[in-house]
Amino acid sequence: MEKEDVIILAVETSCDETAAAVVKNGREVCSNIISSQIALHTIYGGVVPEIASRKHIEKINQVIDEALKSAGVTLKDITAIAVTYGPGLVGALLVGVSAAKAISLAAGIPLIGVHHIEGHISANFIENKELEPPFICLVVSGGHSHLVVVKNYGKYEILGRTRDDAAGEAFDKVARAIGLGYPGGPKIDKVAKEGNPEAIHFPRAKVVDSVYDFSFSGLKSAVLNYLNSCEMKGIPICQADVAASFQKAVVDVLVEHSMHAVQEYGLNKFAIAGGVASNSCLREALVRACAEKGVEFFSPSPILCTDNAAMIGAAGYYEYCQGIRHGYDLNAHPNLRLGERA
Ligand code: KG4
Ligand code: ZN
Repeated sequence: MEKEDVIILAVETSCDETAAAVVKNGREVCSNIISSQIALHTIYGGVVPEIASRKHIEKINQVIDEALKSAGVTLKDITAIAVTYGPGLVGALLVGVSAAKAISLAAGIPLIGVHHIEGHISANFIENKELEPPFICLVVSGGHSHLVVVKNYGKYEILGRTRDDAAGEAFDKVARAIGLGYPGGPKIDKVAKEGNPEAIHFPRAKVVDSVYDFSFSGLKSAVLNYLNSCEMKGIPICQADVAASFQKAVVDVLVEHSMHAVQEYGLNKFAIAGGVASNSCLREALVRACAEKGVEFFSPSPILCTDNAAMIGAAGYYEYCQGIRHGYDLNAHPNLRLGERA
């Protein structure tokens, strides 16, 4: 490590992953440790907030130690500590925020609160060293669906958002309905490869007064109605066809809105972020659509799409460079909006 390097220790506990990472100068990941609780929550069919918080408490010190060790650094080498402070599950966020405050105080290093979605967007900077704003970014996770213009580091213009369910939420609910269980997104992605995306026509929802907003609850209801009507008629359901047809309906809408934004804003760079951005069908469709429009396509590797702390380290670096620091009154903000500070 050079003396002038900015080394960020990052912590992420907003949902069901206890994660810590060491990131150098915003784009170089020295370590990225993720302790997933998926197996614990699977038996309940989704994340149980109380269990998530308790598990974070058990794991957090171990995960942070491991991140420092595998990066070959100690707290003395760390320039600042960045932590997700919202949005997310309040009890889960509090574990990371408290741990980061304690380390900041004990080691005498600055504390930086990072917006979780800003982290997801910043995951793109890690493997795409040449990517600089402005660009359009589609953020699709379990709790959020946003189409944004990344105007500069930390500066966003939100073009559209979901009016009801987030894209990931729709994947999880449909997966449960067709008996795939939790976590739904990756399971639908896998099963859909065996199915016919044209087998069943599900609606491509339009929001009347906005070309960029999304709505997925109608699609979810259409799948449930289809399943009910098959059951009543005694027709067996082909899980793979339902998965593929549902996935295609989500992907079509996401691609259409994204390309509309690219065209309208005249930007020639487009990126994706969030857990659903690891979906293979969505990635393929966006690669194709961007190529047709002569737009450069950027995406994090699947492991950097789902929750991790390396992305928080990347976002934290740009906040650090802008002089953003938080005090020990930093709190968890479960409903923090993108672009908002608390
Ligand atoms: O970003 P993320 O890890 O957590 C949140 O901030 O919400 O996103 C989790 C969401 C879940 O809904 C999960 O089902 C979905 O991302 N997901 C996927 C895939 N992998 C994860 N959805 C579709 N296809 C995937 N391969
Ligand atoms: Zn996330």
